[in-house]
This record gives sequence, structure tokens and C-alpha cells, in this order.
Amino acid sequence: MMETVHVGLEGREYDIHIGPGLLAKSGALIGPMLARKQVCVVTDENVAALHLETLRAGLAADGIAMEALVLPAGESTKSWAYLEQTVEWLLSQRVERKDLVVALGGGVIGDLTGFAAAILRRGVGFVQIPTSLLAQVDSSVGGKTGINSPLGKNLVGAFHQPRLVLADIDVLGTLTLRDFLAGYGEVVKYGMLGDANFFEWLEAQGPALAAGDEAARIAAVKRSCEMKAEIVMRDETEQGDRALLNLGHTFCHALEAATGYGDRLLHGEGVAVGCALAFELSMRLGLCAQEAPSRVREHLRAMGMKVDLKDIEGDLPDADVLLDLMGQDKKVVDGQLRFILARGIGEAFVTADVPRDVVRQLLHEELERR
Ligand SMILES: NC(=O)c1ccc[n+]([C@@H]2O[C@H](COP(=O)([O-])OP(=O)(O)OC[C@H]3O[C@@H](n4cnc5c(N)ncnc54)[C@H](O)[C@@H]3O)[C@@H](O)[C@H]2O)c1
Repeated sequence: MMETVHVGLEGREYDIHIGPGLLAKSGALIGPMLARKQVCVVTDENVAALHLETLRAGLAADGIAMEALVLPAGESTKSWAYLEQTVEWLLSQRVERKDLVVALGGGVIGDLTGFAAAILRRGVGFVQIPTSLLAQVDSSVGGKTGINSPLGKNLVGAFHQPRLVLADIDVLGTLTLRDFLAGYGEVVKYGMLGDANFFEWLEAQGPALAAGDEAARIAAVKRSCEMKAEIVMRDETEQGDRALLNLGHTFCHALEAATGYGDRLLHGEGVAVGCALAFELSMRLGLCAQEAPSRVREHLRAMGMKVDLKDIEGDLPDADVLLDLMGQDKKVVDGQLRFILARGIGEAFVTADVPRDVVRQLLHEELERR
């Protein structure tokens, strides 16, 4: 069973195929788009060990030759140094404007490879083969590519849409539970920001999904991609509605910065904690009933996820420092913090109208509970 979500951006449209066994079918799916039967694949060492040979066989079945660059796994690979290595490697492989570069991996590999493709010879096409849940439901769709700067995350990049996305559900089977649940943070975000029915479905199906239920995984990835595609089509370059996708992210980015962008807090975990804080803040501002933050917390807790600041191990800075870190978020406009708040589950909106004191007090109380 293969599901397809179409991203209908004029002149840059593409399909997202979702289903089992897509690596094995990659040659048949990518082949028709190639000018010549060869591709360069960028991946990381974890993914390479588990899935690169399946991809090689899938491409070879259609007569497509493959060369691969295997980079270290982890966020620090999204850097100037590895961008240079990737671009120089692609040039040494004589990649031309009509070739396609393939990103096989999680969000780190997708963002880095997409950006390398965006700047190589002023832009070559690329295919996303996302292997983490986070990458399948979020980072591989929508065309945001980039690397981190020593001054902050994702500060250097380009909008460059992929030509095709292959979300092979089978590869999720080799993720650690922690990485799977971090990706689930982004899945549940879609329900919270714009689809109360999806949230309700996740409340019922979440445990089966985490346990490996294939049909539930396909349905969740498909609904997430549909929602992301719909928002990206409305607002590709984030002038307005696309910011809704950042529900929980203003808090998340501050917490990631405070914990060093590492193993203490994975991005998707930060998103989940950030969403719980965003709903709590919405309730305090009288925008939604107490039931909404309670339900959000209850579901995240039931899934075994991090929910509150007290679930983050080690020291955290005080509320003022966290507020300052929020001020360094890319979404700050004219020095004003922008938040995604909610009038209820599935009813998020963007606002700059949030008194700093209310945020400071919320953070202070949450930190006191640690
Ligand atoms: N471009 C966007 O729109 C967008 C959106 C959200 C997040 N992001 C970015 O995505 C990144 C996070 O992505 P991520 O969580 O996928 O991180 P990641 O790429 O580091 O992957 C997480 C870990 O899982 C491993 N892995 C990936 N697939 C695997 C598999 N099938 N089996 C076993 N291990 C596997 C990786 O090697 C890595 O160790 C961040 O840099 C974030 O900024 C980008």
C-alpha cells in the first residue's frame, strides 16, 4: 500500500510517497526523473549501516548507479565544515544541473544535503528519503534547508524544494524508541495546531503507532504531510501562516540553546515540552479552557514523553535567561517575541501580543517545580 501526498507549488510541485518497501522500489520511483542513470547519495553512518545497501539494490534494480558520502551522525554535522565537504564531494563526482542528489537520513542529513543542492552550480534537484519520523513528517517537506552557525541553529540556509520525497515506513523500525518519540512530538503538534480530530485519533492510536502498527504509522505520516503541505502551499516562505508550524518552537529553541543542542534534549522532545508550555500560556492568557493544556500534557505523558521542564535532566538557567534565549529566535520581528498560541486544541494562531511578565512568571513557576 503506497499513499501519495501532492505538494502543488506552481512550477516546483512534487509528490511525497508514503508506504512500506519504498527503498526497494526507489529505482522505479526515481528513475523516470533522471537524465542519466546515476545518483549521488548523502547519508550518515548510522543510516548507512542499516539502509544504504537496500537503497543501492533498489536503485540497481532499475539500472541506476549510486555513489555515497557517509557523514558522522548528529546535529554537529549541520555545519559549515560538512557543507563544504558535501559540496566539494558532489563537485568531485561531477554532479551536473540535470542530476539529482539524494538525501538519505534524518533531518540533519536532509537539511544539509538540501542546502548543498541549493547552492551547487546555483541549484540542482534533490530527492529526500527521510529515515527518522521527524524527517518524514516535517523536515523533508516544505523546502527549508540549511545549517547551523556558531551563533545559532538554522541561521544559514535557503528555500529549496525537493523534487520527490520517499517516506519508507519500514525504516522507522530501526529507530530507537527515544528518536521515534521525538518525531512523534512533531506529529502530535499538527493535531494541536490545526486538527482536533487528528489529535483525538492520536490519543487513541498513539500507543499502537509507537509499538510499530504499520497502518497507523502510514496514516499518521500521511496526515502530517498533508497538513504541512497545505500550510506550505499557502505560505511557502513564512510570511504568515507557515509560522503556525512553529507551535512550541519559541520555548523549544530557548531550551535547546540552554541544554547545548545535544542529547539532553532532542529537538522533537523540546517541541513537545514547548507545546505544553504554549497551551499553558494560552490558558493563563484566558484564550483557552484549562482542559486544553491538561489534555495535551496527559497525552504526552501517556506516550512516555518529556512534558514539563522538570523532565529535562540537569541544570536550566533562570526565567530571565530563558527569555533572553527566546529573544534570539529567528521568529523575532522588530525585537518583539512572536508566539503561537491556541484557542483550543486544533486552533492555533500567531501573535506578538504576549506580555513578557506572564511568560516570565510561567517559566519561573515551571522552574520552581523542578
Ligand atoms: N527543514 C525543516 O523544515 C526542519 C523541520 C524540523 C526539524 N528540522 C531539523 O531536523 C533536525 C532533526 O532531525 P532528526 O530528529 O531526524 O535528527 P537526525 O538527523 O540527527 O536523526 C536522529 C538520529 O537518528 C538516526 N537515524 C535516522 N534515521 C534512522 C533510522 N531509520 N534508524 C536508525 N537510526 C536512524 C540518525 O543517525 C541520528 O542519530 C534538526 O537539525 C532540525 O533543525 C528541519
